[in-house]
Amino acid sequence: MDTQHRADASAVAAAFGMSGLNARSLRQQLLTWLVAPLAVLLVAGTLFSYWVALRSATITYDRALLDPALALAEHVDSENGSTVLDLPKVAQDVLRIDSYDRIYFSVSRLNGELLAGQPEMPAPPPVVPVGHRTFYYGTVNAERVRIAALYVPQPNGPVVIQVAETMVKRNRLTREILIGETVPDLMIATMAMVLVWLGILRSLAPLERLRTEIAQRSARDLRPLDGSYAPSEVRPLVGTLNELLGDLRDALDAQQRFTANAAHQLRTPLAGLQTQVELALRQPASESMLRSLHQLRSATVRAAHLANQLLALSRAEPGGRRPDALRTIDLRSIAQDAASIWVPRALPKDLDLGFELATAPTVGDARLLRDLLDNLIENAIRYTPAGGSITVRTAVEDDAAVLSVVDDGPGIALDQREQVFQRFYRVPGATGDGSGLGLAIVQEIVNAHQARITIEDGPDGRGTLIRVYFAKAPPGQPPAA
Ligand SMILES: Nc1ncnc2c1ncn2[C@@H]1O[C@H](COP(=O)(O)OP(=O)(O)OP(=O)(O)O)[C@@H](O)[C@H]1O
Ligand SMILES: [Mg+2]
Repeated sequence: MDTQHRADASAVAAAFGMSGLNARSLRQQLLTWLVAPLAVLLVAGTLFSYWVALRSATITYDRALLDPALALAEHVDSENGSTVLDLPKVAQDVLRIDSYDRIYFSVSRLNGELLAGQPEMPAPPPVVPVGHRTFYYGTVNAERVRIAALYVPQPNGPVVIQVAETMVKRNRLTREILIGETVPDLMIATMAMVLVWLGILRSLAPLERLRTEIAQRSARDLRPLDGSYAPSEVRPLVGTLNELLGDLRDALDAQQRFTANAAHQLRTPLAGLQTQVELALRQPASESMLRSLHQLRSATVRAAHLANQLLALSRAEPGGRRPDALRTIDLRSIAQDAASIWVPRALPKDLDLGFELATAPTVGDARLLRDLLDNLIENAIRYTPAGGSITVRTAVEDDAAVLSVVDDGPGIALDQREQVFQRFYRVPGATGDGSGLGLAIVQEIVNAHQARITIEDGPDGRGTLIRVYFAKAPPGQPPAA
């Protein structure tokens, strides 16, 4: 029944185009819309602040690199038409001291003629720049360097002082800026993601609760959903679902009323028919006439039984139940009432129908409980071969009021134990006339009482043992008479 229900649900989903393939999860969508822009923002922000920081660091280091060039410029002298660097070797070495980088310098003419310093210096730009100074990157001794070039005017043409320094300081600063910028940003982004994820989980919790509430329901439970805890965005959905459930409930109620009325209407003419057949059977008649009348009688009895079963089924369905009929009731008294009807019916088949009754109070609808017991006893009598024995028991076990019927008949095969509860289902080859509704009625009544039913082998692995577990009535309330 459950599988059927689920199959129906997926068919409905497919009919509405809600296939799982194109319907991405809300969680996934929210994350995609948050993570992707956040990642782009993070990268763009880091790049931008890196660029700004690098620029100002370069300007600062460049300014520092110019200092030795200016100091050297003080000592460039022109004597007798030739330009020289008038600085002792020791002082030159002092200018080249740095704790991180190697520093090189050169003094040369614009045409590249070296006057002093490092011969491997790259050639300076041959045109004197505005402000007489410029900075650029180059290579010295196969090492990348930053170079400051200072143009100093001299009587016999300008000279260029170049000071170059390796990139150790600058690279280290770049690294530090990069880490300093990225790590806090990454931490903030991660925190934001975690918070968003938690937020999503929290906001989706009411939907999850709604899903559980719907999933736990049986196919026939059409009570309105409780949407009070749902966020305002979801409440209209719950409202619409409840309207749909209401419409379904009305439709099922109408169907249930129709079945009940039809069965009820059938009963009167069938009873009349039965009386007439009984009367006719008492009249003198030919052999063949009698045979026909006997067949007519058993067909009428079958039809009347079917009408009764349909009526009992519609009484047990959700639309036919009467909540005001629920009382604290002792299963023992239900069984006692049934005994007087069923013991005489078991006699012709030479069945030993016994009752072992202990008090078993529960809350239930006496009429439905009686329908349930009648169907179980009727089955036992119908399917147990002559000479067999049947026992009806009521008792309290742990927290349950238990009603059981056990027989030593043919039993119900393991693979049939779910199907026998389906409407109009009869085990293939089952003896006797039956409409296949008895256990469906029992199942509805079990559902109506939120009880539980089990089918097992009887003692010694023979026969059928059916047990129904009802909630035990709370103590203190006297069972209704
Ligand atoms: N005590 C039992 N022993 C053996 N088989 C049983 C027993 N009770 C039920 N069954 C099997 O389960 C099937 C379904 O039972 P159910 O009471 O629903 O229908 P039915 O007895 O055939 O018809 P109805 O009860 O409507 O007259 C029966 O056809 C029968 O084969
Ligand atoms: Mg039956």
